[in-house]
Amino acid sequence: MGRSSLAEDFEKLLNVGIALSSIHDLEKLLDLILKEARRLTRADAGTLYLAKDGQLIFKVSQCQSLTERWGEARMRQMYESFSMPISRESIAGYVALTKDVLNIADVREIRSDASYHYNPSWDERAGYVTRSMLVVPMLNREGNVAGVLQLINAMSDSDDGKAIPFPAKQEKLVSSLASQAVVAIENAELTDDLKQAHLDTIFRLGVAAEYRDRETANHIKRMSQYCALIAENLGWSGEEVDMILRSSLMHDVGKLGIPDSILQKPGRLTPEERHIMEYHTIIGGNIMKGSKAAVVKQSRIVAITHHEKFDGTGYPRGLKGEEIPIAGRITILADVFDALSSKRVYKEALAEDDVLRILREGRGSFFDPKILDIFLDNLEAVRKIQSRYMDREEDFDKFKNLNRLVIEEEEKVKKA
Ligand SMILES: [Fe+2]
Ligand SMILES: [Fe+2]
Repeated sequence: MGRSSLAEDFEKLLNVGIALSSIHDLEKLLDLILKEARRLTRADAGTLYLAKDGQLIFKVSQCQSLTERWGEARMRQMYESFSMPISRESIAGYVALTKDVLNIADVREIRSDASYHYNPSWDERAGYVTRSMLVVPMLNREGNVAGVLQLINAMSDSDDGKAIPFPAKQEKLVSSLASQAVVAIENAELTDDLKQAHLDTIFRLGVAAEYRDRETANHIKRMSQYCALIAENLGWSGEEVDMILRSSLMHDVGKLGIPDSILQKPGRLTPEERHIMEYHTIIGGNIMKGSKAAVVKQSRIVAITHHEKFDGTGYPRGLKGEEIPIAGRITILADVFDALSSKRVYKEALAEDDVLRILREGRGSFFDPKILDIFLDNLEAVRKIQSRYMDREEDFDKFKNLNRLVIEEEEKVKKA
């Protein structure tokens, strides 16, 4: 049959293992696992399930011949996410339950005494003919089932488009691949969790800072989304967009170091007080000084420069034009736009027309013209972000109570 030797198989497996361990994005990883398993076995199609709470959750499906016929986009529509119980009735469920490998020469000729049966509904919908199937459990180090890898229709060497049974020796090969894949999946899930925890922490730190200035948590959500939108339209990579999304969350973290008597003072600040208020940029920079983490480094830049104006009249350093790091030029626009266009506990929101007029007046003085133009060109997306993270009345209640408490405290202090 001209199939590869053991040494060649081993080498292929090794290479796959190396490739898998370098991917930390779970979705991309699952895709690659299935692709490599199909390549090793010359399978036309396949599906990967992950096991969770007694269910098999559909994750990826691929089908070479149909993709060639229909293209990627239509293929994606063919698959919808679903889950099924781990039970003896379905082929993948049976494999997950028994941890046995099933190598089926033809699904239409499954023995009648088998507990599982083949469900032809997808074939019927897609106009596809499933024949042979190699289905292996994905076992983790503890021997528990983490998922199921289902390979469909081994293609013969003759390229006549006919499916042949999967050779028995591939059972071991795919099982080895599956266990390597599980390690990579567990690592990627861990990275996912860590990323999530990390984002959550910096978000909450940002909220803590904004809370003191009576801004709602939605302010930094909207503001960071505006930053990401601008970055995307500047042509930044996905990673760079993600970075500004995260780092902008902490633009005002330095407010943690500003006294309430200034932050929450009604009415105008004295020049002295204003000076202290402006110091939140420097405090933010100090809070994030000396970190090796790229996102904290950028947060530091954002914290220090998000009040620098394009014409050099901003603070703390009075940087001008492109002297201001681009992350700072982006955040000032997102921050000012949100401050004008949303309600605060001490002021109402301005109408959109007025907000846009003020932004345009700030072209080249407050804002980098290029960045402002990008923002104005994408108002549809801006409005979507606004409505997605709209403040509700109850978001302001906590501040009202807080204010009353502060005033009461101040009265007490005055009387004492
Ligand atoms: Fe600020
Ligand atoms: Fe802000």
